[in-house]
Amino acid sequence: MIAITSSQQLRGQLQTWRQERQSIALVPTMGNLHAGHLQLVKKAQQQADKLVVSIFVNPLQFAPGSDFESYPRTLQQDSEKLERLNVDLVFCPDVSVIYPQGMELSTKVIVPGLSEILCGKYRPGHFEGVTTIVSKLLNLVQPDVAVFGEKDYQQLVIIRRMVEDLCVPVKVLGVETVREKNGLAMSSRNQYLSQQEFKIAALLNSTLESVVKQAKERSYNTVAATADFQQIEQRAMQTLEANGFRPEYIKICHADDLSDAKADSGKSRGMRVLGAAWLGKARLIDNLTVE
Ligand code: PAJ
Repeated sequence: MIAITSSQQLRGQLQTWRQERQSIALVPTMGNLHAGHLQLVKKAQQQADKLVVSIFVNPLQFAPGSDFESYPRTLQQDSEKLERLNVDLVFCPDVSVIYPQGMELSTKVIVPGLSEILCGKYRPGHFEGVTTIVSKLLNLVQPDVAVFGEKDYQQLVIIRRMVEDLCVPVKVLGVETVREKNGLAMSSRNQYLSQQEFKIAALLNSTLESVVKQAKERSYNTVAATADFQQIEQRAMQTLEANGFRPEYIKICHADDLSDAKADSGKSRGMRVLGAAWLGKARLIDNLTVE
């Protein structure tokens, strides 16, 4: 596996591969790799001849005073995991390589609307940081395919919109969420949970499952109304609160543009249930499809 930290070296290696007519896939990450990330790696390898994995804890997507400093950095272990999976190249640049003018003066990529709802409402500026870094990585690597996890479903929808709007010639592939045995979505931030909290955390997933079940029942009942969906969402929030979570939102959305779903509109467009809740020091997110 080739490890590269500078953009010039990266471009050089990619040029060689392109001259050899090798197709290229990209998996962007912030490192501290777990089985969820590794699933993306495996899917990406099925899509292209060469795979680039980026590891970059992107300061632009962290709010001041949030966990940027304490975010787990485990480059050595991450490299070993990627090496074992025969990843071709790991790109792990310094902040100065990505933001040579500093973050404030860096050009930003913004997807309005979608970036301000759900998680965006509670993390202002977060998705601007995500779309800016993902644009940079797509321009640096120019992959044929870029692979993202459905675990961050809003992120995936926003990236798809950005790629479409900016006419970026890349196929965006979403990969199903990888979970712990108890159903909790795997995340680098799960380390912030105590043993006891780790057990309770599974309730976010089971609560969303219950919302899915209720949304399905309402959708196939002709007297259903949006108010019903709001009641389902509120009850789910109450369940979480009663178990020690500090929920931010639980929402039944249209899967394509994350607008509020109505019992009669969701059937044709497809629905997704999304939720975010704090438990102790960890902010947990999860989502499920309503099929
Ligand atoms: P990070 O949280 O490291 O996640 C990297 C990729 O792994 C994302 O596409 C994310 O959705 C996916 N992922 C994380 N946990 C997963 C799980 N349990 N199952 C499946 N996929 C999972 O998301 C980011 O980094 C950053 O925002 C990034 C896109 C790299 C931009 O900085």
